[in-house]
Amino acid sequence: MFFFPKIWVLLSALFALFGLAVTEGDEQQKSWLVDSLPGIPEDYKQRMYSGNLGEDEQLNGDLFFWMFESANTTYTNRTIIWLNGGPGCSSEDGSLMEVGPLRIGENDTFQLNSGRWDEFGNILFVDQPKGTGFSYSLDDNYMSDNDKMAEEFSVFFEKFLTEFPERANDTWYIAGESYAGQYIPYVASRLIEKDLARLGGLAIGNGWIQPISHYNTYLNYLVEKGKLDLYSEQGQYLHHAWADCMLALKQMESGSGDVEKCENFLYDIMFMVSDKPGKTCMNMYDISLESSYPLCGMDWPMELESLTPYLSKPEVLQALHVNTTYVKEWKECSNDVSNGYAREGIDSSANLIKDLASKVPVMLFYGENDFLCNYLSGEDLLNSLEWNGEVGFGNTSWFPWFNMGSSDEPAGSYIQARNLTFARIAKASHMVSYDHPMEMKALAAAFFDNDIQRLLTPPEHLPDPGNAQHSKWLYLSLLPVGLTVLGLSGIYACRKLQLFGLKEASYEALPESP
Ligand SMILES: *[C@@H]1O[C@H](CO)[C@@H](O)[C@H](O)[C@H]1NC(C)=O
Ligand SMILES: *[C@@H]1O[C@H](CO)[C@@H](O)[C@H](O)[C@H]1NC(C)=O
Ligand SMILES: *[C@@H]1O[C@H](CO)[C@@H](O)[C@H](O)[C@H]1NC(C)=O
Ligand SMILES: *[C@@H]1O[C@H](CO)[C@@H](O)[C@H](O)[C@H]1NC(C)=O
Ligand SMILES: *[C@@H]1O[C@H](CO)[C@@H](O)[C@H](O)[C@H]1NC(C)=O
Ligand SMILES: *[C@@H]1O[C@H](CO)[C@@H](O)[C@H](O)[C@H]1NC(C)=O
Ligand SMILES: *[C@@H]1O[C@H](CO)[C@@H](O)[C@H](O)[C@H]1NC(C)=O
Repeated sequence: MFFFPKIWVLLSALFALFGLAVTEGDEQQKSWLVDSLPGIPEDYKQRMYSGNLGEDEQLNGDLFFWMFESANTTYTNRTIIWLNGGPGCSSEDGSLMEVGPLRIGENDTFQLNSGRWDEFGNILFVDQPKGTGFSYSLDDNYMSDNDKMAEEFSVFFEKFLTEFPERANDTWYIAGESYAGQYIPYVASRLIEKDLARLGGLAIGNGWIQPISHYNTYLNYLVEKGKLDLYSEQGQYLHHAWADCMLALKQMESGSGDVEKCENFLYDIMFMVSDKPGKTCMNMYDISLESSYPLCGMDWPMELESLTPYLSKPEVLQALHVNTTYVKEWKECSNDVSNGYAREGIDSSANLIKDLASKVPVMLFYGENDFLCNYLSGEDLLNSLEWNGEVGFGNTSWFPWFNMGSSDEPAGSYIQARNLTFARIAKASHMVSYDHPMEMKALAAAFFDNDIQRLLTPPEHLPDPGNAQHSKWLYLSLLPVGLTVLGLSGIYACRKLQLFGLKEASYEALPESP
């Protein structure tokens, strides 16, 4: 999916093979047991299962899953589903670079992940919708909208419980990032509707939830981060582009607008906001990083250079029970899946989130350095959202949270009201667990235990009773941002990679940056 030539240094790899004893489970389950995997550390002892559940008439294809059993017996009955975004990007980003127990490094080396979430539950990674990662479609019909995606997932989930009946009474959580800001609310709503799972909570990282909020806040974010002066020539140009985009979104409500205006707005930003225009640009997933031009972050994180060839090795495909009749190599993101979605346009999932918050705890968390799906979009969205009887967070206070014992500095801040938590992780990227594994693990564990305040905020940082609004941590003004009431969705996603299937010409027409 990169469009610069990949240079793999292929080393003769040493494969550590080791056995994992099967002590229980029926024959069918055993066929999914992963009993060896090239390169993984010998001290990884937990059981894992992966493969396809078998083709289904309804799906006309098959989804791929990889489940890691909990490393802590206290949590054998809690299972966390993890979904990466796109649309069309594989959840193996999550399994091997973010929240799974194993983490890939350079040259096919693995280490145990300090930020592993299997310390507080089983984790089930699913490549979905079909056509994503190791999942496949038997026809050329990819999912065209979230309704179909959610139905497909629920069919998969029901089959999964048939094959793993011991998980039937688990408390289920659904977590993920980016375009999973759409997946998660739709999937959760469908699982509740069909009464398939007892849900314990939902956690969405740097989610693409309400497109209008993203376009609306891009410039504010850059201004807040000191990356853009709105009064410069460049700032004025971008401000016009922003207005065009907003107008287009508004017109789309009546069926006439063109979302290309918004895509161009985004490209303009990416190509103009740079210290050395034409040579480097900011990394859209982490503004503290630079990226080569015109990739602007598409070549990030660097472990992808290792992950992609690793997951495409015949012995790895075999070990993970990938159906090689249909899937011969792993790709991080699928154009087919993404294009299938793009044709239909994409709705906001905000209304679903609002309903879900009346049923389960919901957390929206944001790595603060992510530009593409930045925290201001989350604030913009929540400021005008009514959930559980009130709009926004009102006069609720922000609190700092700490990765206890590791530092005196707050790891971030959060605000909570009526089952909804909005959390920020300082200095973290779009893939929070990737660069802040310990902090993200602490935040996730505290959220799953439904007690962030007690677990992560030391008493001295709590407000005096009766004086809540004067907390010194009320440092974050909820910026009143532009046009907040436009209801329509855009087509753009906080998705990895698709961005630059773009017409390279579109930025050449721009005025020279200073
Ligand atoms: C398992 O989780 C419990 C509860 O959080 C904790 O007290 C215990 O130390 C954990 N055990 C291990 C081996 O990590
Ligand atoms: C998990 O659930 C099973 C079946 O309901 C139960 O027997 C077991 O005690 C539970 N385990 C834990 C650690 O709660
Ligand atoms: C990976 O391989 C390259 C080329 O042999 C080498 O320069 C680099 O140090 C290796 N990295 C690690 C972490 O072993
Ligand atoms: C799950 O709960 C149902 C109803 O209480 C019970 O009949 C079933 O045996 C339980 N399944 C497992 C695997 O514990
Ligand atoms: C792939 O799927 C097809 C159709 O379900 C099946 O016949 C075949 O055995 C599978 N191959 C592998 C390697 O699992
Ligand atoms: C919050 O979620 C719980 C379920 O976890 C639900 O019982 C409760 O009614 C919700 N709270 C509000 C204010 O809706
Ligand atoms: C916060 O607002 C609510 C009503 O919206 C009010 O009842 C409450 O007193 C306010 N709390 C503080 C500390 O100002």
